[in-house]
Amino acid sequence: MLAYWLEVLHLMLRYFHIIAGIAWIGASFYFVWLDNSLREPPQWKKDKGIKGDLWAIHGGGFYEVAKYQNAPEEMPKTLHWFMWEAYTTWITGTLLLILLYYIGAEAYLVDPMKSDFNTATVIGLSIASIIIGYSIYNVLCRTPLVENGKLFAATMILLVAAFSWWFDTFLSDRAAYIHVGVIVGTVMAANVFFVIIPGQRHMVKEMAAGRTPDPSYGLRGKRHSVHNNYATLPIIFIMISNHFAFTYGHDYGWLVLAALFAIGMWIRHYFNLEHIGQHKPWVFVSGIIAFVVVMALIAPKAVPTSSEAIISDAQAMAIVEKHCVECHSASPTSTMFTAPPLGFVMDTIEQVRASEDKIYNRVYVSKDMPMANMTQMTDEERLELVQWLKAK
Ligand code: HEC
Repeated sequence: MLAYWLEVLHLMLRYFHIIAGIAWIGASFYFVWLDNSLREPPQWKKDKGIKGDLWAIHGGGFYEVAKYQNAPEEMPKTLHWFMWEAYTTWITGTLLLILLYYIGAEAYLVDPMKSDFNTATVIGLSIASIIIGYSIYNVLCRTPLVENGKLFAATMILLVAAFSWWFDTFLSDRAAYIHVGVIVGTVMAANVFFVIIPGQRHMVKEMAAGRTPDPSYGLRGKRHSVHNNYATLPIIFIMISNHFAFTYGHDYGWLVLAALFAIGMWIRHYFNLEHIGQHKPWVFVSGIIAFVVVMALIAPKAVPTSSEAIISDAQAMAIVEKHCVECHSASPTSTMFTAPPLGFVMDTIEQVRASEDKIYNRVYVSKDMPMANMTQMTDEERLELVQWLKAK
């Protein structure tokens, strides 16, 4: 019963996390688009201190947006702030991390084949990595490097590669990807919490007092919000990555992540250029080509044909028995599952044969089954099982 209610909690948190994330990233897209789409206003608006204006039509009405150079003549009664989308995304994400990867550490976090660290150590490293990751970003943002957009982006991609490589040495493949996402998401939420919102509070305070706010606050906020904007596409990939075991499960999964991160930023760049009226389709096209090239490079190799005899049906079912059915059975004996995961059952040889491709993918290509390799399946057993499957 507890397992069931933990699953319900998982559903609620994930549902909420995605909704909040949509609201946050949607707002990020919208405001970067808005800012880039502002055009020079007519003189009468300029006289009022408006530096850019924009007209839009949506949901059956016309909208007029004006951006002020400094303060409006009068502070409006209602001023909308955008921060809770970011905070709730981060909070629900953190709770998901705790529920799935810390409480469920044996299943999702640690990989006994990669290191001897015990669960507590891995959780400690996980928490430390978030603090270290954010600190590095924060320090870099105080160096002249941050002035140079291209160099800064390249540095971020290198950092992503370094972290995902490091995570890959001791976390399960799936957790390694999510951890890069956790660091990036934390940086993004911290940008809102520590830079963007305090800067805005300062601006509002100064304006309300009739002073001209120090423009450096606005510029800093703008820069960090652009950083967040470039991280949006990569982080969405990481959020859905656990459905795509062929990415994180690849031998060079950490490099695949760094490549997809760079490609995501590059495609985001295309949209940002588009908003400021620079039409550069090759940026988009080259991004898609790069993506397809990465996918072609990680495509699974065919199963090597065996010179030795293929194992017998009984031996194959013994492997399944040893490594799979504690979860994938009509009545699982695993304490983690009350029902077979995804309803996927391997109790009989017919059931196993019927799912040849699925098993081949998870056991041989991405190697993410048995889950977290809890039953310590060897590469030899993997090969034997898929050779048997292919040799019918
Ligand atoms: C400790 C529990 C556990 C063990 C042991 C385990 N699995 Fe899984 N398996 C899961 C969970 C949980 C999922 C669903 C989540 C996912 O897809 O990652 C799953 C999903 C799958 C799927 C995807 C099914 C579908 O319909 O898409 C396949 C295929 C699979 N497992 C094969 C295997 C094979 C083969 C073994 C043994 C070599 C095995 N699993 C051992 C827990 C386990």
